[in-house]
Amino acid sequence: MSVIHSTLAAKPVQVLVGSRDQVVTPATMRTAMQNSRHVVLARQPQGQPVPADFAVQARTLPDLPAGRVRVEVLYATANPGSRNRLSGQASYARGMALGETMEGPAVGRIVQSRNPDFQAGELVSGPFGWAEHVQVSGRGLRRVPADTPSVSAWAGILSIPGLTGYFGLRDTGAAKAGETVLISSAAGPVGATAGQIARLMGCRVIGIASGAQKLRWLREVAGFDAVVDRAGAATADDLAARIAAAAPDGVDLYFDNVGGPLLDAAIANLRLKGRIVISGQISDYNTAPEQRYGTRRVDSFISKRLRMEGLVVFDFADRFDEATTAMTGWIRDGRLKFKEHIVDGLEALPALFCAQMRGEIFGRALARLAS
Ligand SMILES: NC(=O)c1ccc[n+]([C@@H]2O[C@H](COP(=O)([O-])OP(=O)(O)OC[C@H]3O[C@@H](n4cnc5c(N)ncnc54)[C@H](OP(=O)(O)O)[C@@H]3O)[C@@H](O)[C@H]2O)c1
Repeated sequence: MSVIHSTLAAKPVQVLVGSRDQVVTPATMRTAMQNSRHVVLARQPQGQPVPADFAVQARTLPDLPAGRVRVEVLYATANPGSRNRLSGQASYARGMALGETMEGPAVGRIVQSRNPDFQAGELVSGPFGWAEHVQVSGRGLRRVPADTPSVSAWAGILSIPGLTGYFGLRDTGAAKAGETVLISSAAGPVGATAGQIARLMGCRVIGIASGAQKLRWLREVAGFDAVVDRAGAATADDLAARIAAAAPDGVDLYFDNVGGPLLDAAIANLRLKGRIVISGQISDYNTAPEQRYGTRRVDSFISKRLRMEGLVVFDFADRFDEATTAMTGWIRDGRLKFKEHIVDGLEALPALFCAQMRGEIFGRALARLAS
């Protein structure tokens, strides 16, 4: 496994003049039929997912229908939020069926277009999942600017995780200058983005993560004001004491990616009228719904007049361009940093996802499928 940053650019293509349906790419001279490998859900995981829960399938894509584009996926992604769907549970997205291509945001290159709004050669991000090639309509496709500072970021902080950090912090959380913001899984793409934006807004930012490498990156690269190591803390009270040491005056806003005892530890440190954004609950994703931890500090909501609000990033879809424009500017001027963990090949995705669900990945979990 390696960690790299990508600077892929849009490749020039030769388009046959007068025939929008017929496009020849220099890479493969793709014609009507296209072979593609997909990773599908082979069985529902029991607890912690394992690679055998997935299978690689070879498919032949049919002739491209009118109105659609064929995309060669460059970067596919592993996402903790997929875990519930693998057990067939619907949340804000429906549960996945056996044999279905694994979902996830991705970035790719259009290799053939029968949609007048898109041209072959353009880079696009969208929910392409774990597949080498997909045929999709233009709906939900986001065009990647040719001068983007990073193509892979369009499967990372310029797509769903970064957008979740941006809108969760600014809109759902309504962070204000001078406030103390606490973030769990702060070194992940959602948490790291939310934390750095909070710093840009003038907040004091405390990140919770595990391990010296992540904590050092949060302080020295991402510029967090303080960090809390969650590793080795046995109880919510232990975690609460560690947070209190980093936030002696209390916390105004808790951006929660994790749930479980960490949520209770954060609640213990919230100030009067404190707020909680529920972005994710990764500590419970491998646990059956009836065995999940939840919270045992509901009484504090009364005494401290707290508020907690759930976040679904797709509620902000009509403002995604606003966020990517702002974040691209911050990436360019060095104020928004991101970390990627990139593996090679479609078949590496199941193991990547399983490692992510064990908390072993540092940075946006990506698989490079083509260049
Ligand atoms: N609401 C939305 O619209 C939305 C959209 C996208 C993502 N999300 C959610 O945002 C959260 C963060 O997503 P992300 O993509 O940035 O991933 P991520 O933070 O990199 O998630 C993996 C990390 O979670 C942390 N973690 C804490 N407790 C864990 C446990 N019990 N088991 C495994 N990992 C644990 C680990 O970091 P440490 O060891 O450093 O704590 C681990 O490396 C997820 O919960 C995801 O579901 C929500």
